[in-house]
Amino acid sequence: MNEVFNTLNKLKITPVVSIQDAKFAVPLAKTLVNSGLPIIEVTFRTAVAEKSIKNIKKEIPEIFIGAGTVLTIKQVDKAINAGSQFIVSPGFNPTVVDYCIKNNIVVIPGIDSPTLVEWGIERGLEVFKFFPAEVCGGPSFLKALAGPFNNIKFIPTGGIDETNFLDYLKLDNVLACAGSWLTKGNNLDQIKTNIIRVLSLIKSEIK
Ligand code: 3PG
Repeated sequence: MNEVFNTLNKLKITPVVSIQDAKFAVPLAKTLVNSGLPIIEVTFRTAVAEKSIKNIKKEIPEIFIGAGTVLTIKQVDKAINAGSQFIVSPGFNPTVVDYCIKNNIVVIPGIDSPTLVEWGIERGLEVFKFFPAEVCGGPSFLKALAGPFNNIKFIPTGGIDETNFLDYLKLDNVLACAGSWLTKGNNLDQIKTNIIRVLSLIKSEIK
């Protein structure tokens, strides 16, 4: 498994953030690092995504950074040039996936069916986002996929929070969980407290 997947697996949870104001990007990323979670996925849902990724990478080079909600090749280029180490999409767009593979960019497309997993396997992919996890079957869906796809790992995202993330992390075919719940609100002290609590739960509950 490559370095990106090893890191995602080691850290177990990835905060997905949609940054509205670029000036909050670096303080938020610093809070994550100081909480013991040196990873962030910045979504391309806002106009300041590219700038935020660039600033975070410049100020906190040790953070592991990915771009989320990447829907086009143009966004892939922007994300990678800004310093993203991996690309995440909500669905499986063959144009985006093939472009990333051709350019040796780590891509994690979203799937919600066995068919899409097969599309990825055909292209040599081993890791997929499972989105939107809670409305598409939750942990039961992933348990059902473990039989036919026994070498494939998933990153469930969508509707995951502190009440259910451990149910996913306990599954052998879950590489990590991701979600926006980890960074809700603007209070950085509160975010730090929440993350420290979640990391300690992972330490005590996940082998
Ligand atoms: C994403 O883009 O990964 C999701 O929108 C995150 O889903 P959540 O907000 O339900 O955690």
